[in-house]
Amino acid sequence: MAVRLLGLNCSPRDNSNSETLLRASFDRLKEKCPGDVECSIINLREVHIEACRYCEVCGKSKKDGKLRPCVQAGKDGVQEVLDRMVAADGLVVATPVYFGLPSDLFSKFIMRTRVLRHQDFRLANRPVGVMAIAARRSGGAETTIISTWLPFVRNGCLVVGNGDATCQFGAYGWAGKRGHILSDEWGMEQGFQVADRVYNVAKLVRTGIDTLDYASPMQFSYESGTRP
Ligand SMILES: Cc1cc2nc3c(=O)[nH]c(=O)nc-3n(C[C@H](O)[C@H](O)[C@H](O)COP(=O)(O)O)c2cc1C
Repeated sequence: MAVRLLGLNCSPRDNSNSETLLRASFDRLKEKCPGDVECSIINLREVHIEACRYCEVCGKSKKDGKLRPCVQAGKDGVQEVLDRMVAADGLVVATPVYFGLPSDLFSKFIMRTRVLRHQDFRLANRPVGVMAIAARRSGGAETTIISTWLPFVRNGCLVVGNGDATCQFGAYGWAGKRGHILSDEWGMEQGFQVADRVYNVAKLVRTGIDTLDYASPMQFSYESGTRP
């Protein structure tokens, strides 16, 4: 079965550098491994996202430990994105750099993945790579990449960089106006490297899971590490 990669484009604007980089990287990867990788992209700007309400019963009942959906499931478009993330073998996030951080669109969306964490870590062991696009050198691409990793670590994912070429933290696209990214040769190269790295690790993990018939032992607990 082909390795399934899902890209999350976190730019609020159309024809964004984030989307261009993500799409070009996936296209190159599909050319490199024909038939062995399936790539799809979700533009978060097109998804209706309600903010997390901190309802306190997120994903797992405190009373009987039964798993349950988010109280907002079906009221907006988030559940469909979550389902596609769970169905994917690997994830690639592309975001513009906003004040040295991922976009507010990313932050609003990622809080809603808490339900998956509470449902016994349904994103466990998926590799995640990040592409960050900044207009300025030293404008915060690396702080953005690392900040983007953090919620995925909380979700039990495996964060990866750009692999064997230089093993950096991810892809840094140097671009301001729409389309600038296409002339950033190194940024375009790094984007492909990130997609390729996620593909390789996803393939490794998938093969391990299938061969060992491995079931993740991760159980979410409300008590562990919290104040009594
Ligand atoms: C609110 C806002 C904050 C930004 N903050 C930064 C920043 O901290 N550093 C930087 O280099 N560029 C910053 N930029 C520029 C964008 O990161 C840059 O234009 C990028 O190419 C946009 O990507 P997109 O086309 O995928 O939306 C900012 C832009 C906006 C709108």
